[in-house]
Amino acid sequence: MFHLSPSILAADTANLAIAVCAAEVGGADSLHIDIMDGHYVANYAFSPKTLADLRRVTTLPLHAHLEVSNPDAVLSLFAEADMIIVQEDATPDLAATIATIQQLGCTAGVAVNRNRSVKPLLPILDRVDLLLVMAVEPGFGGQPFDADVLDKVRWLHAQRASDRLDFAIGVDGGVNLSTIALSAAAGADFFAVGSAAFTGDITGSVRQLRAAASTTGR
Ligand code: DX5
Ligand code: ZN
Repeated sequence: MFHLSPSILAADTANLAIAVCAAEVGGADSLHIDIMDGHYVANYAFSPKTLADLRRVTTLPLHAHLEVSNPDAVLSLFAEADMIIVQEDATPDLAATIATIQQLGCTAGVAVNRNRSVKPLLPILDRVDLLLVMAVEPGFGGQPFDADVLDKVRWLHAQRASDRLDFAIGVDGGVNLSTIALSAAAGADFFAVGSAAFTGDITGSVRQLRAAASTTGR
């Protein structure tokens, strides 16, 4: 089973409800909402109000991906989310941050940047719902996929099996019809997809992405 989470960073925000409904019709499993603070990344995107507004136009689960410095200071603002994803290098005590997210009633995701190892995250793998491997530098959509990160996907896949854990293994950044198949073959089952979902025929693109992931036979 694959989880497709279209990232609204790539959507036409002047017509956001239309874009989101098209993704929903195409079979999206959730919406990925990047929150950017102009500090952790050199860009700005979305806010808690975006989540509240989206609740009125979609029943899809909402995932807030906090690409911000000091996420601990703002977690409670995102209690509206179904899942809160934090960057593992943005918080001094990741286990405490995960616990706070869960106390807010949200599921917890942890994202790891390209230049960071996943191996130090071993102690928290039993308490997260999603481990999200970044295949681009955070901050902007439309960047090329770094296939080197697939080694982290393979490691997570092996670790999940050997420890009988059940977190989702996700990839975010540069996911398109070909890289989704590569990622799925490496063991990923969750995909945050911006440009390849929200460019052109959104409904058709979301359907095709799922079909492309499924060609791996997993
Ligand atoms: C990047 C964001 C991604 C972004 C992906 O900082 O975390 O979610 O929307 O966009 P694409 O799929 O265009 O690379
Ligand atoms: Zn993201």
